[in-house]
This record gives sequence, structure tokens and C-alpha cells, in this order.
Amino acid sequence: MPLLGIERSLTWLTHSQSHGIIQIFGWAGLFVMGLAYHVVPRIFNRPIQYPVPQQLSMWLVILGLLLRFTGQSLYTLPIAGLFLIVAGILLFIAMFVFTWTLYGVIRYSASKSGPAEIWLVTGVIWSVLSGAIHLVIMFRMAMHGEPIAHPPWNEALIHVAIFGFITSFIFGLSVKAIRGFLLLKPPHERMNRLSLVLLQIGLVMVVVGRFGELGQVVAPVGLILSSVGAGMFVVALRLFEPASKSVHRIPIGYLRYHWYVRLGFSWLLLGCVMLILIALDEIGLTNMVAVQVSLPVIHVLTLGFVTNLIFGAASRFIPIFEGADIRYPHLMNVAFVLLTISIVIRLAFGFSISEIGERALGISGASGFIGIILFSIMIFQVMTQSARDAYSKRVAAIGRVKLEMNRDAPLVKF
Ligand code: HEM
Repeated sequence: MPLLGIERSLTWLTHSQSHGIIQIFGWAGLFVMGLAYHVVPRIFNRPIQYPVPQQLSMWLVILGLLLRFTGQSLYTLPIAGLFLIVAGILLFIAMFVFTWTLYGVIRYSASKSGPAEIWLVTGVIWSVLSGAIHLVIMFRMAMHGEPIAHPPWNEALIHVAIFGFITSFIFGLSVKAIRGFLLLKPPHERMNRLSLVLLQIGLVMVVVGRFGELGQVVAPVGLILSSVGAGMFVVALRLFEPASKSVHRIPIGYLRYHWYVRLGFSWLLLGCVMLILIALDEIGLTNMVAVQVSLPVIHVLTLGFVTNLIFGAASRFIPIFEGADIRYPHLMNVAFVLLTISIVIRLAFGFSISEIGERALGISGASGFIGIILFSIMIFQVMTQSARDAYSKRVAAIGRVKLEMNRDAPLVKF
């Protein structure tokens, strides 16, 4: 809008708020839910109910978000309030179905306390709590006829959804799957647990502080604790230490996915530092950060951390799940550059509002959007029959070569 010379107005706020929820629950949430439905039964070694809960929760999220977007952005419609209430109810039921289905898996599992499992359990709990908080916010908007979600409540929801729901799953999968793929050394278990505890206490304080409107200490201290907890996890994961050993595997998926993973976690560290500075300012101990920085920090976390991790994990895991080859891996190289440009510009020009800054933010938006399109092209291509055929042919050819080599090898007699 600023790039086109349209003034920021109430429309800007209604659209940016509903954009935030759609991105968190739609883009990141559906991705995390899909991956969790696939991976959690394997990690906990228990079967899962299929396919009703998966399809039901997916459609409920989609419908809920469509209604939320319509109800909030077309707030002058007489039925806007009804749309918001139904949106809240549908999204809550979706999260409940998701939680209930995974609870059915986790409940009977022998191991619930491993380094990955603890994150997945907390992720399941925060997912339904995020749905509940969103429901409360929708009721308030509808009852008061407000086009904008109550800011402190909205902020609590954003933190709970990003750190409690999305990040817990990312951490759980990182300890298990990403660690295995990157051949990282075993995680520091005590630090992993401490990070989990700090994150939980911090998030509870953010919710209680913002909903109880408890002044300028409880929620900011919660922000500091959850940021320290999230930062500690990166150390516990040993992501930036050299790999423990190398193994030979048939290459599958995007082979530079570790770029995304390592850069994503670096953005997380930067985002946590920014959140701590913002919280110290709010408490009144410092005065370091301009007010506008609170918005770039959201995108350092959501585009920088969450989206990089989604790109990295999806480009590696989905070809494996599908047994399919990526035809255009260079699209992912370009997406990596575009996404990074988008976040860097947003960060650089997010500190103050100026004419050139507004233009730069428009360019940042376009760059990130094109990156997301390239990623989508790559993923949709992987989910085709021709991609599966290409992989089968390649693996069969490798198998034939190995067979020939074994046949030609001299027999060793004992
Ligand atoms: C190229 C991609 C994106 C663009 C252009 C974009 C743009 C924006 C804009 C213009 C705002 C309004 C506030 C501001 O000026 O900063 C906003 C807010 C927000 N965005 Fe994004 N965004 C993008 C991606 C994402 C992603 C991937 C997520 C989450 C996974 C996300 C989550 C949010 C949230 C939570 C808010 C705050 C909403 C609120 O204040 O309630 N955004 N975004």
C-alpha cells in the first residue's frame, strides 16, 4: 500500500492482523500439522488414526482462516461479527482435533520424555491453547464490534502461536530428524530441558501478563525468559559444531537444505536478542530500541526463522516421504537468496518510517513473495508421478550398478 501511495489506515491494520494469523496458522501451522501427523507416530512408535482427523483439521483451518480474513477485512458487513465468531470456533475445533489425534498417539507410548518427545508434547498442548486464545479474541471483537483485535491479547496470541505451537514442533523435529540428517553430535540434554522449561514459564507469563493487563513487568519478563530459552536450544542442538561422522547415503531432496536450517536458526538467535532488548525497554531499564523495531522482529522470527526452516525441512523431507526427485533444485538456490534479501531489507528499513524505507519494504515484500512462489513450484513438482518415476529409475540404476560390482568382486575363501 505505501509503495502505491495509498495511506496506511484502519484497512492497513485489519489486513496486517488477519495476514499475521493466516500466515501463522495457514502457512506455518498447516505445514507443521502435516509434518506432525506424519512424523509423531514414527517418533512415539504408535499408530495414528487416519484419514478423518487429518482432512477434518485441514479443512477447518482453511475455512476458519477464510472467515477470519473476510470478517476482519470487510468489517463493515453486518455479518462480519458472525464470521469472526464462526472463524474462532472452527479454528479452535481444528486445533482440538489435531491435539486429540496426537494425544491418542502419545498417550500409549512408552517413551514420552526423550529430548525430542518433550518438545512435541508441549507443541501439542500449545497448539490447542493457541486455538483457544484466538477464539477468545474473536468473541471479544464480535461482541464489542471492534475491527481490530485487542493489541495486548493479539500480541500474546502471536507469541504463543510462534514460540509455543510452531517453534516447539520445529525444535522437536530438529532434535530428532534434522540432527540425524546433519549428523550433529548428541544434544546437550540438560540444556535442552532447561530451554524447554524457560520457554514454558516465559510463555505463561506473557499470556497472564497481557490478558491480565498486569503492567510493564510480567509479560516483558516472560518475553525475556522465552527468548533466553529459545536461544539456549540452539546451543543445546550443537547446530554450529562440526558433524560427528560422515555416512554414505543415496542423495535425495534438496542437498543444500542445511543452508536454510543454519541461517534460520541464526535469524532465531537475532530475533531473540531483539525481543530481549524490546522487553528491557518496556520494563523501563533501557531505552535502546525504536518502537518500529517490534514489527521487523516479527518477520525476523517468522520469515527468517520459521520460513527458512519450513523451506529447508520441506525440501529435504517431502522428497523422502514421496520417494521423488527434485527436478529444479536451482529454484531453491534462488529462493534462498530472495528470502534473505527480503528479511535483510525489512530489518534495515524497519527501524524508522521514511519514504525510501516504504519503497524498500515494498521491494522486500515482492522479493519474499517470489521466493515463496519458487519454493511452491519446487514442492508441487515433487508431488507428481513423474518426480516419483524419476527417483525410482535413478535408484534402480544405482542398485543395478551395485549388483554388477558385487558380481564382479572376487569371492573370498576362508
Ligand atoms: C513476503 C512475505 C511477507 C510480507 C510482505 C509481510 C508483510 C507484513 C506487513 C506489511 C505487516 C504489517 C506490519 C508491518 O508493517 O510490519 C505484517 C505483519 C505481520 N506478519 Fe507478515 N509478511 C510476510 C510474511 C509473513 C510470514 C511468513 C509470517 C508468519 C509465518 C508473517 C506474520 C506476520 C505477523 C504475525 C504480523 C503481525 C500482525 C499483527 O500485528 O497482528 N508474515 N506482515
